[in-house]
Amino acid sequence: MALRHFLTLRDLSSAELNRIIERAQELKRLQHTRQVYQPFVGQVMGMIFEKSSTRTRISFEAGMTQFGGSAIFLSSRDTQLGRGEPIEDSARVISSMLDIVMIRTFGHEIVERFASYSKVPVINALTDDHHPCQLLADIQTFVEHRGSIKGKTVAWVGDGNNMCNSYIEAAHQWGFKLKIATPKGYEPQEKFLKEFAHCVELVDTAEDAAVNANLIVTDVWASMGQEEEQKIREQAFASYQVNEHLMSLAHSDCLFMHCLPAHRGEEISENMLEHPNAVVWDEAENRLHAQKALVEFLLLENQK
Ligand code: CP
Ligand code: NVA
Repeated sequence: MALRHFLTLRDLSSAELNRIIERAQELKRLQHTRQVYQPFVGQVMGMIFEKSSTRTRISFEAGMTQFGGSAIFLSSRDTQLGRGEPIEDSARVISSMLDIVMIRTFGHEIVERFASYSKVPVINALTDDHHPCQLLADIQTFVEHRGSIKGKTVAWVGDGNNMCNSYIEAAHQWGFKLKIATPKGYEPQEKFLKEFAHCVELVDTAEDAAVNANLIVTDVWASMGQEEEQKIREQAFASYQVNEHLMSLAHSDCLFMHCLPAHRGEEISENMLEHPNAVVWDEAENRLHAQKALVEFLLLENQK
């Protein structure tokens, strides 16, 4: 059977994604009641980081330890990857010694090339184009607070970035409607929007997106690698802030999510993370549980 990877949300079926969300909630219960569950004693994850991280690194490393395994942090700065050893060679060597690999990098083609030469499952832990692990946590969080997301309306406000692309694929996989409000010139790729036209709609303003939303989501205006565009983006995105007024246009039980880290006073108002419908801390914690469910799925699936 072909090796299963998780490079985008489309690598799994809707049924498999739903199983992972259910399993994430079970694993969370086990963790909260301090039950030891160690199905992967002796198994090792490689964690390749070419960009910074707090949540992703901690959740994968803690998750592997809780499973009875371990994880090795591999910064591209300290490995031969940073000195130009080809991805294809690195993938063959690294995957010959490890059981599973996660990669956070720039170009999406890097994870694809690594995966095509890897002997073990590869997880995309963020590229310039996708952040599928965050979506597992976001959907788990929605389900825990509001039940099924199928048929609901989600508003994406801000940059048409990696998170936005993963929301587009999530809308397709979980059957919700996604309204996207971005400034002109910062939309997701036209081709991508067309492909998902059945579940995604581009609207003109943040207000248009918020009306009737069951969930409002945003992210930083300048992603990792775009730091030099910060000032110009602050001007372009000025009317795309998620704040209390925007929330008041949505359903009264509309949730607010942000993958974090957040910039108060930019993409969110000063007190947005304290809004009664903000669930960002649960969302961050669920990275741990959702990714444990993903790792378990991939390790067991690839042993069949
Ligand atoms: N949301 C997220 O991926 O956070 P980190 O960059 O801290 O891993
Ligand atoms: N869009 C952000 C997400 C960070 C978790 C970035 O790529 O920097």
